[in-house]
Amino acid sequence: MADKEFPEGFLWGASTAAYQVEGGIENVDWAEAAREGKVPEAGRACDFYNRFGSDFEIAASLGMNAQRFSIEWARIEPEEGKFNEREIEHYRAVLERLKASGVTPMVNLWHFTLPLWFSERGGFLEKGAPEIFARYCRFVVERLGGYADLWLTHNEPIVYSSKGFWDGVWPPFLRNPLQYLRVIYAVAAAHRTAYTAMKTVRPSIQIGIAKHNIFFESNSNPLNRLLCVCSDWFWNHRFLRLIEGYQDFIGLNHYHHKKYGATSRERETAVRSDMGWEIHPTSLYHCLIALKRYGLPLYVSEHGLADAADVHRPEFIKNAARAVHRAIEEGAPVRGYFHWSLLDNYEWTEGFTKRFGLIEVNYDTLERTIRPSAYVYKQIIERNALID
Ligand code: FCB
Repeated sequence: MADKEFPEGFLWGASTAAYQVEGGIENVDWAEAAREGKVPEAGRACDFYNRFGSDFEIAASLGMNAQRFSIEWARIEPEEGKFNEREIEHYRAVLERLKASGVTPMVNLWHFTLPLWFSERGGFLEKGAPEIFARYCRFVVERLGGYADLWLTHNEPIVYSSKGFWDGVWPPFLRNPLQYLRVIYAVAAAHRTAYTAMKTVRPSIQIGIAKHNIFFESNSNPLNRLLCVCSDWFWNHRFLRLIEGYQDFIGLNHYHHKKYGATSRERETAVRSDMGWEIHPTSLYHCLIALKRYGLPLYVSEHGLADAADVHRPEFIKNAARAVHRAIEEGAPVRGYFHWSLLDNYEWTEGFTKRFGLIEVNYDTLERTIRPSAYVYKQIIERNALID
């Protein structure tokens, strides 16, 4: 690898998730919660379900050679055990489209939203949930496995459990420490069962999860050091240990830096995104290095920021490339980077108010406008190298 270059074949892309962009998904727990007024409505979102072709064209015009997207479980299995072949054809068309332009897909099978029938029965806490989830994953791989090598069973298990079972702000809106712990183990079991089922159908595919990891630091105070070590284990590594032996690569979703014992000056001077999340230039590097211990290929499966004015995103993207490059130089086997997100989208409890897209979406007209930062990303992609 020459000085500033990335390895040949490095994947450069962006990520989306079905419920956040597709529109028209009504038979999931999130849509039910929206009808009950507990979370914002997603409605037609970006209409990506109908516009994926032109959106992928924009992505290709920016040089991207990879895309991560998710399949909506409730579209494929709207009733328990009844699979919808028409929706399989939809996702086949999505994959065909990527294939036609030589773009590598990373397919995620579950990104937070549960089919209503499954959530009403207790979701992952239901006995038999691993088999139910694995049956769905297996079905999709039977039908579409030939189109993609990179598969994720699910996205961010610890965020899912924390928001839904500890903070009580996402479906199923619980604040129950016991259920919180139970659901983590249940999702891990579902992953392991799905992994085995998917591999049986198509041994050649590579399967992982998208893991949300935080860069934890502390000052020299022993209590803060202890907090840092415990948080790191609990948030970043415990789940990965639970699925050890059942993953072929690790997807890293990275957004946060947390320093225990940060001074008030450090807190006040931190640069923040529109979400109020600190923008830390090297945290991605630290998270990648921390994943070296697993000895598996790594992909940055999400990394981005809410920045409607696009003032921080250009530098953020350059720093992301620097962080990945430095991690590779130090032996982290990073194979690709997927920016979050291709498009502005439905940001869960924030609704459509936060703008994560390389491409801006006008929600009245659904018009797309490429943000200036996307051209910065394009330069990096085209050179497959760092830029100043
Ligand atoms: C991640 C989620 C993704 C999006 C970004 C901002 O935690 O996976 O859906 O909401 O945060």
